[in-house]
Amino acid sequence: MIKKYTFGQPLETGAAVQAIAAHSQPFDLMHLAHTQDGICLSCRMDTQDVVYGLGEQMRGINKRGFSYVSYATDDSFHTESRHALYSAHNFLILNRTNGASFGIFIDDPGTVVFDVGETQLDQLVIRAGKDCVIYTIEGNGLKDIVKQFRELIGRSYIPPKWAFGYQQSRWGYACAQDIRNVVQGYHGKNIPLDAVYMDIDYMERFKDFTVDAEKFPDFADFVEEMRGQGIHLVPIIDAGVKIEEGYPVYEEGVKGNYFCKDGDGNDFIGAVWPGRSHFPDVLNADARAWFGGKYRVLIEQGIDGFWNDMNEPAIFYSDQNLKKAMEAILSFKDQNLGLHEFYQMKGLVDGLSNSEEDYKSFYHNMDGVKIRHDQVHNLYGYNMTKAASEAFDQIAPNKRILLFSRSSYIGMHRYGGIWTGDNASWWSHLLLSIQQMPSLNMCGILYTGSDIGGFGGDATEDLLLRWLAFGIFTPLMRNHAAAGTREQEIYQFGHTEDFRNIIRIRYGLLPYLYSEFMKCALNNEMYFRPLAFDYPQDTHAPQVEDQLMVGDSIMIAPVYKQNATGRYVWLPEDMLMVRMKSLEERTCKVVEQGHHYVDIALNEVVFFVKKNHMLPVAALDDDVKNISGIDAGRYEWIGYAEEAAEYVLYEDDGVSKEYTPREDWKRIILAERYLSN
Ligand code: GLC
Repeated sequence: MIKKYTFGQPLETGAAVQAIAAHSQPFDLMHLAHTQDGICLSCRMDTQDVVYGLGEQMRGINKRGFSYVSYATDDSFHTESRHALYSAHNFLILNRTNGASFGIFIDDPGTVVFDVGETQLDQLVIRAGKDCVIYTIEGNGLKDIVKQFRELIGRSYIPPKWAFGYQQSRWGYACAQDIRNVVQGYHGKNIPLDAVYMDIDYMERFKDFTVDAEKFPDFADFVEEMRGQGIHLVPIIDAGVKIEEGYPVYEEGVKGNYFCKDGDGNDFIGAVWPGRSHFPDVLNADARAWFGGKYRVLIEQGIDGFWNDMNEPAIFYSDQNLKKAMEAILSFKDQNLGLHEFYQMKGLVDGLSNSEEDYKSFYHNMDGVKIRHDQVHNLYGYNMTKAASEAFDQIAPNKRILLFSRSSYIGMHRYGGIWTGDNASWWSHLLLSIQQMPSLNMCGILYTGSDIGGFGGDATEDLLLRWLAFGIFTPLMRNHAAAGTREQEIYQFGHTEDFRNIIRIRYGLLPYLYSEFMKCALNNEMYFRPLAFDYPQDTHAPQVEDQLMVGDSIMIAPVYKQNATGRYVWLPEDMLMVRMKSLEERTCKVVEQGHHYVDIALNEVVFFVKKNHMLPVAALDDDVKNISGIDAGRYEWIGYAEEAAEYVLYEDDGVSKEYTPREDWKRIILAERYLSN
């Protein structure tokens, strides 16, 4: 049951799609207080209670013991002490052992703080602004609460099927030849690959919707050449538009009044990769239609996928802040800097980027109403992505175009996916990415994944192997790295055959992974789930922070520690352990409910099939190059049927928006007592 409470005069964020009448009774699920800054909700948590949700946030699956701030932030240092990342996903569930569990969604596009037992161990405290809508959801268990929430916020974005293939990216592919070399690197070693990303270097001086003609002569021909080799090119689009006379996007934006304004009514200036830039006012319907329409120029050259970046929006500095900081720094010149002076000076530079002061200094025109940016900060990335998606509906109404964003708010999940931003080549970030996935799914973001191998820092071969062994289960499976780091394409490492085997396992599992993704999207369910969602009676499951259910049939337990040759796995019931050295070389064994130490070598993928469940596995030719090489007629089945196992297989053309109607989903039944191959 969903209840809606309105406080003050909230803005329409578009997060919810279901019309629900405001609840007539006073808010009573948590203690409510009105403070000077807004509202404050609080309640007690018992020791055994678990808090799930908050989407992209840091830390574990159980969010207890820390505070999380919803304030989209471009911060590439994802350490344990960080309170905010790129997105704002204000939905959580308090799962109680004694008493009614409930979900709560705070629809407030400004800063919201979730103190989940940081200040007081047993207190959940939520602070929001005075104008917001709050939805509470009670239901029949965790899955039901999430499903109701997902119905409230609308169907998740569905990408084209090719976007489930393996994808390679790097900040630094500077010209067409660099990209050809990547494709050759993969094809030369017979490793499947479906897409290569084009980071900011493809543009002319980092100007959106331009392609540098020297680095990419005859771009449309190049896109076609790549398509001929089965490769989709995915260019990046940044939020900031370079200020440059003669650059049509800049000139049109100024003329049409499409940019955010400063306090004096001039186009706001902030610097990003291209230097001084303006920011399209994507919260304004006209500006959104204009900016979205710009994607057409790349689509017409054959592009069918994009990633939207820097859309918190990131601001390196503003003119006024830079000037102030420069002057202050100069005042330290020739001084003997002591402790305080030195850190003060250092702070002046560090404080330039993404400053609160800058976010308070510009305005949106939300269809006639002037709104200061900081009050709607978390809606920016969402609306940049909505701009693109709405334009795609015009440009290619029945075609799925790949689209994902760095920043987001609940509601954006209908228009695109997200990736989890600038992580690092750290083992702790492999674990973090495992823990972020179910929380993101709760908030409707199904098409998601992290930069495999880590973005910052140098990936080692073992880290990449382990990360891929997890990444084969994430819908977005993209290896991406920052400029200046060790080259991380898998053919750069010694044991290419091991990498190749893991990637081929992804392609073999793709019929299952795609089928599960689609069913979850169409049924408003979660593709990744914490164990406690499937085994609510299991008292150990709530403590499991490093295993996930993936789709309806399987459980994964990735290795995320360096030099580990295996790991402890908790089995909530008897399961079939599937061990794959390669797609063809696999063994299956029933393992009993309980704790087990499982050896998992660096070149193996191990997963577990639930009792009375099964999954299709595609048989692949040796030279399969991309997902078009998966032959729907050549499935084998892995299953564990004590009585009977049934699998509902979803299939479609993978490109159109005509999704297979439910009654046409195929039911496959295995009646054998126990089956493995
Ligand atoms: C940002 C993005 C990263 C990208 C880089 C350069 O840091 O998060 O993925 O490679 O910008 O465009």
